[in-house]
Amino acid sequence: MRNETIAIHAGYEPEATTHAVAVPIYQTAAYAFDSADHGAALFNLETEGFRYSRIANPTSAVLEKRIAQLEGGVGALAVATGQAALHFAFVNVADHGGNIVSVPQLYGTTHTLLSHILPRQGIIGRFAESDRPDAIEKLIDENTRAVFAETIGNPAGNVCDIEALANIAHAHGVPLIVDNTVATPILLKPFDYGADIAVHSLTKFLGGHGTTLGGAIVDSGNFPWAEHADRFPAYNKPDASYHGLVYAERFGKTAYIERARSVYQRTMGSVLSPFNAFLLLQGIETVALRMERHVENARKVAEFLRGDPRVAWVNYTGFPDSPYYPLVQKYLNGSASSLFTFGIKGGMEAGKTFYDALKLITRLVNIGDAKSLACHPASTTHRQMSAEQQRVAGVLPETIRLSIGIEHVSDIIEDIDQALKKACPSAQLEAAE
Ligand SMILES: Cc1ncc(COP(=O)(O)O)c(C=O)c1O
Repeated sequence: MRNETIAIHAGYEPEATTHAVAVPIYQTAAYAFDSADHGAALFNLETEGFRYSRIANPTSAVLEKRIAQLEGGVGALAVATGQAALHFAFVNVADHGGNIVSVPQLYGTTHTLLSHILPRQGIIGRFAESDRPDAIEKLIDENTRAVFAETIGNPAGNVCDIEALANIAHAHGVPLIVDNTVATPILLKPFDYGADIAVHSLTKFLGGHGTTLGGAIVDSGNFPWAEHADRFPAYNKPDASYHGLVYAERFGKTAYIERARSVYQRTMGSVLSPFNAFLLLQGIETVALRMERHVENARKVAEFLRGDPRVAWVNYTGFPDSPYYPLVQKYLNGSASSLFTFGIKGGMEAGKTFYDALKLITRLVNIGDAKSLACHPASTTHRQMSAEQQRVAGVLPETIRLSIGIEHVSDIIEDIDQALKKACPSAQLEAAE
């Protein structure tokens, strides 16, 4: 099946009892056992079924199957937020200690997780000086547990060379974990290029309406955990917390995602509510259509900005002179992201005036909504970083990040134009030139 069809049908057929066509919301904490033996078999992971909604829930299970199929993976775990998904994704490879080698262009909170929070648990985030594969390779050593990248960086908009990163990671015996939130599996399927694990904030384009937080981890099933037993003992030695289960032996291709569920989801929670799973499924039904309009509108807005004398720079990877343009052709089929940044003449102060003058475009910290959104990363999402870390992550003091929605593009451009008029009266513009 193709994206559009998977997004509407995968993971659910009208269920046997009621024949409900829409996915039912199974608002239940627990599930009845037929007998003591049935309960024991469920707890032993010997039989399929549900036991408690912290571990799995039928509504969330449909969402998991749908996302796994969109990504071309063998399984997925839905969790409460994208951040929870990233946390579980990292600890699930590195809970015996070690380092994660990452590109520097990350969403600010993920940067904080890797640079401040995980190190307190013995997992060190190592940031390469750029997203170039050779910069990543320099940092990999015998304690590395994964290479990590956002397929499209938020807010830098950089497109990572997934295939090259995967080759390097695999040459050193570690998986490539990618955050595919900004691209979505509609624009890019990282497993086709060798990535092993994909993480999503479902809050963004996949959900698509800015109503619902959610996250997911998807397993490609391709990383050979058993071949790297020294580096990944958690997959290859009996797990005392699960009466001696050896994940790689027991689950084979689905070892990673089963361990994420059985170890982390079970003991740490971060559960997605069934109602949120339902809302996210509603959103996913239209994601392919929405992505087309996001991409098309963004191209027109970026062209408008670039042609405007009040604008100092536009960092849009769909321009042929962008260093990432060849990667946009290779990985995104020419569809540059609707998330991009720009700066207006007059620096930080003019940028703030512009931001405050927006009427249609919402000032907030979110991306991937049907609505057009704007954010000033230096004062919000990337505030915890040093000025140098911000620069490397693609954030300048004047940077405005736009997430272009699916409204009529003329209305978006008119709003930007009126805000530019307020921020750059002609006298100020001449002075800046
Ligand atoms: C690329 C990326 N990954 C992860 C997250 C975290 O997602 P959530 O807000 O659902 O926790 C965000 C949030 O903005 C993001 O932009």
